[in-house]
Amino acid sequence: MKKVYFDSAATTQLRDEVIQRITEVLKTEYGNPSSTHSYGRSSKSLLENARKEIAKLLNVSASEIIFTSGGSEADNLILKSAVRDLGVTRFISSRIEHHAVLHTLEWLQKEYKVQVDFVNLKKCGHVDFEHLESLLADTSKKTLVSLMHVNNEVGNLLDLEKVALLCKEHKALFHSDTVQSMGHFELDFKVIPIDFATAAAHKFHGPKGAGFAFIRKNSGLRALIHGGEQERGLRAGTEAVYAIAGMAEALKISYQNLEEERKYITELKDYFMEQLSANFPGVKFNGGCEDNEHSTYTLLNVCLPISAEKAMLLLFQLDLKGIACSKGSACQSGAEGGSHVLNEILSDEDLSKPSIRFSFSSFNTKKEVDYVVDVLREFVTLGI
Ligand SMILES: Cc1ncc(COP(=O)(O)O)c(C=O)c1O
Repeated sequence: MKKVYFDSAATTQLRDEVIQRITEVLKTEYGNPSSTHSYGRSSKSLLENARKEIAKLLNVSASEIIFTSGGSEADNLILKSAVRDLGVTRFISSRIEHHAVLHTLEWLQKEYKVQVDFVNLKKCGHVDFEHLESLLADTSKKTLVSLMHVNNEVGNLLDLEKVALLCKEHKALFHSDTVQSMGHFELDFKVIPIDFATAAAHKFHGPKGAGFAFIRKNSGLRALIHGGEQERGLRAGTEAVYAIAGMAEALKISYQNLEEERKYITELKDYFMEQLSANFPGVKFNGGCEDNEHSTYTLLNVCLPISAEKAMLLLFQLDLKGIACSKGSACQSGAEGGSHVLNEILSDEDLSKPSIRFSFSSFNTKKEVDYVVDVLREFVTLGI
């Protein structure tokens, strides 16, 4: 059966070079990086080189990169420690953040009674900057703004620099979940005065189970996971050296190929939109998907003009035809109530139609787009 993977926002295919790097490290670097003998020192040196490499790409110091198991852990570390260790009592966020942020804020509300204010969103889900500024104008409580760079469901792109400067002006801390943008957009944290950011290797052709938090120097954050002194005391536990080496390799290659791949994938996305518009009158693109300047080139969230009954069968049918894509985001497929992001930004009428997230990488081709459009057409017009 033909197989098409259009779910790179859920996770990406590993690059061959990354697999090779991981395998090399697994074979040769089995020393514990905290051990002081030669095996340990060798692993430690590899770990620190990976840290330096990642830091250089983001234009920050190596000491500002803390390795974690992925994006969720990095988000949790920053948000929870900000309350416990920095005295943050108020958050400004949005209702369309990833659950790694939203559920953490809910927990902080319950456990620490912090105040959470949600910024208004414009019709397609972009942040209303005027409202953000008016929320920031209240400086009576120590505030942290948490707004994601690229939305994982609809792809909306935030102007990070603008938010970071606004936060500086109003003396608020700024955290951005950059899990969906890391490796796909050039992030220069010397230019962008952000305090905290997060990443997961598996979103940029690296391995699962590795990620990092960017934590600006002298932040005052402290560990959530206690134990050894790894990661400068900010995250105990023996580091997954092979996965971290693979992550550094993956990020390096992503940066090397960034412009070329951005161009290639943007063309693919544009072609997909053209084909869908030509074949399905009434099709809509959710969020800011159509506007390449304010959305990521890596994903397209499509609202198809078909009935609710047919919609139920659609993902099932696509899967039967070997096509992998997502309804909402992977973390909640199968969950009741649908996507919290689409619920927030779509009209009731559009919510009754199926919305599908197709997300891309440079491994995809126009031929795959044609195949998906053919399968969709058969399903919509012939019901098969
Ligand atoms: C925007 C965003 N934040 C956080 C996460 C969580 O990352 P991880 O699964 O690596 O913990 C994801 C994963 O889907 C994501 O898309």
